[in-house]
Amino acid sequence: MINILVTGANGQLGSELKRISDDNIIVFEKQINFVFTDIDTLDISDSNSLQEFFKERSFDYIINCAAYTNVDLAETDKESAYNVNATCVKNITDALKNKDLSTEQAGTKFIHISTDYVFDGNSHIPYTEVMPTNPQSVYGSSKLDGEKFALENDKSIVIRTSWLYSSYGKNFAKTIHKLCQEKESLNVVFDQIGTPTYAYDLAIAILQIVKQSIKENNFITGLYHFSNEGVCSWYDFAKIIADKANSKCIINPIESKDYPAPVKRPFYSVLNKNKIKSTYNIKIPHWQDSLNDFFKILTNN
Ligand SMILES: NC(=O)c1ccc[n+]([C@@H]2O[C@H](COP(=O)([O-])OP(=O)(O)OC[C@H]3O[C@@H](n4cnc5c(N)ncnc54)[C@H](OP(=O)(O)O)[C@@H]3O)[C@@H](O)[C@H]2O)c1
Repeated sequence: MINILVTGANGQLGSELKRISDDNIIVFEKQINFVFTDIDTLDISDSNSLQEFFKERSFDYIINCAAYTNVDLAETDKESAYNVNATCVKNITDALKNKDLSTEQAGTKFIHISTDYVFDGNSHIPYTEVMPTNPQSVYGSSKLDGEKFALENDKSIVIRTSWLYSSYGKNFAKTIHKLCQEKESLNVVFDQIGTPTYAYDLAIAILQIVKQSIKENNFITGLYHFSNEGVCSWYDFAKIIADKANSKCIINPIESKDYPAPVKRPFYSVLNKNKIKSTYNIKIPHWQDSLNDFFKILTNN
């Protein structure tokens, strides 16, 4: 029996992992026992509870989906953002190092998720894992610190992703889908370029890594990038969502300077995914194909 803990499981990514496990979408070589927790059942900021939790149970894999993801609020709520995105990651890896743990527990493999916000967005070519980071926000800095803590542990994989959306939780795709049915027009920035990531596809990729690790014992640690294939602006993304929703709402392209926000968003956040594709033989769908899948779930057909 392989035991997998998913923290922050009520969020977008955690919910997709749960959906995949409930529907047995990935078939593993061995029997899998998933344990899904969120802040109400396992608050990863409480290091004592975390230590106790790991004393009682042992896990082969931990997938940390818990995060402070409100980019704008993080600017004024800095302490909480650093606590969840950085200190909590250290809490988990420290708990795994605890001397009282069994040998089996000490072998736990850790998969942590990070973000394109660790970069400054000034690149003109897709970001690889070795390109220099330069976060421009509290969120980005806190996530970068979290990556460092995760990678200090010698059995960790960190996957950076971008523009995450799902039928679960709050995200750009759901917001535009709702607003385009309520409003006659919407202004959306067209000078920020990136790639949407359907959280379902990221969840599948994570579980493929776990599956290969179980089957072939090849858990290759380190940093990886993952998003869907393709490139677009937020305007393109919104336009296609409105079209798919058969909405008459007019989507107006605007510049970032005309859409003030507490945090300056990266102008360019396309991630190069060659490393994860070649290391784990992962096939990544194009963002427009995944958006179709998202729509089927969102509209239940
Ligand atoms: N969303 C994006 O566009 C995006 C882009 C790039 C990377 N990422 C990264 O991808 C990962 C998954 O993101 P997501 O969108 O699925 O996040 P999410 O929907 O915000 O989910 C995060 C979950 O973690 C929970 N949580 C917060 N503090 C916790 C604590 N102390 N203990 C346990 N659980 C806690 C949250 O609960 P509450 O809701 O109660 O706080 C929430 O259920 C994160 O690492 C994020 O930084 C996200």
